[in-house]
This record gives sequence, C-alpha cells and structure tokens, in this order.
Amino acid sequence: MNNNIVWHKEAVNIAERRAQHGHHPCVLWYTGLSGSGKSTIANAVDRLLFERGCHTFVLDGDNVRHGLNQDLGFDDVSRVENIRRISEVSKLMMKAGLIVGTAFISPFISDRVQARKLIGNGFIEVFVDTPLSECEKRDPKGLYKKARAGDIPHFTGISSPYEAPMMPEIHIKTALLSISSAAQQVVNYLENRQVIA
Ligand code: PPS
Repeated sequence: MNNNIVWHKEAVNIAERRAQHGHHPCVLWYTGLSGSGKSTIANAVDRLLFERGCHTFVLDGDNVRHGLNQDLGFDDVSRVENIRRISEVSKLMMKAGLIVGTAFISPFISDRVQARKLIGNGFIEVFVDTPLSECEKRDPKGLYKKARAGDIPHFTGISSPYEAPMMPEIHIKTALLSISSAAQQVVNYLENRQVIA
C-alpha cells in the first residue's frame, strides 16, 4: 500500500448506526454449489428482514459479475479476487449498518477464512447444503449440462473444487426444508444471537 495514504476516521460510528437502525449489522455469508439455492434463500431472508424494518441488502454472484467484477473469470485466481472484493464491499456495507447477504459459491475455505478475518464478529457463514446430484438435476440455468459436455471450463463441482464449510454458523440442508423454512432458520438464528430483536 502507498505510504502516503492516511486513514480518515468516520464522523458517525457503527454503534450510532446500530442505535438508529434498531438492529446489529452483520454479513450473512451464503456458500454452496451453483444451483444450491443461495440466491433464493438469501432473497427470502432479505424479504423477511426488510418487512420487519431491518436495513438490508443482498450481493449476488451473478449480479456482481455483471458490474464490479465483470473483469473476472472462474479460474482459481479470479475466484480468489472475486471473493476478496466482495469481502471488502460487504465489510463497508456492514459498517454502513446493514444486514448484508452475500450469495457467492465462494468455493475455497481459505477465502472464506480471510473474509471472516476481515469482517470480524459480524461474519455469519451459512452453508446452503445441496448435494451435487440434486444441483445437477435442477440445473436451473443449463450450466451443468454444458459443463458435462466440456463447454464450460472450471465448473464448480465438475472440473473445479468446492470445499464445504466444516463449522458453519448455520447449516441449511435444503433437501429437508422448503425455501420459507430455510429462510426462517436464518431469521431464528439472528433472533437467538440477538442480531435482531
Ligand atoms: S465464485 O466461485 O464465488 O467466484 O462464483 P460466483 O461469483 O458466485 O459466480 C457463480 C455464478 O456464475 C455462473 N457460472 C459459474 N459458476 C461456477 N463455475 C463456473 N465455471 C461458472 N460459469 C458461470 C453460475 O450461474 C453461478 O451462479 P449460481 O447462482 O451459483 O448458480
């Protein structure tokens, strides 16, 4: 980093924002295979929280890759950079007082460990646990079919690894739950941890 860059202290601190919003800020870090249901569950949680008056936002892999991260591909180096940028952005949004949902495959444990370190206490890992066979059966965007045919290189679960979380704060087994029950599982966790009242 350039030595001539000096940190400027914010006038409004995170505790003041928390008091104004009436809830703690945090980052719900959803991770799981393509087609596992990350975005669907993150958005269902977002809707529930929004309707309770919480200040929220969802950062979604496909959407962020349309803008901020449109220069990145799916090789390992690009994925590391993708998650590094998202970690930084979600930290900024958390400091703005929001409950942030991030829906990225984020396949590497080391990147999620880095995100946890950067974000600190507010980091909540949510494992959207859907077996590869089920994701492939759903194949909502037809990507698994293309990947099996060799038309998409580095496809997670097929030709690129997915490292499942060992001890996520929230473990959603999607085979056993409806979308609304899965979303409720997340909200219950936030209530129990007193992130929301
Ligand atoms: S990562 O691994 O966290 O950097 O990926 P992410 O930014 O979440 O982007 C995943 C979405 O990109 C589409 N897509 C691919 N996924 C995995 N592997 C390859 N090669 C690939 N190419 C395109 C896919 O639609 C993912 O969306 P989800 O919502 O996960 O299905």
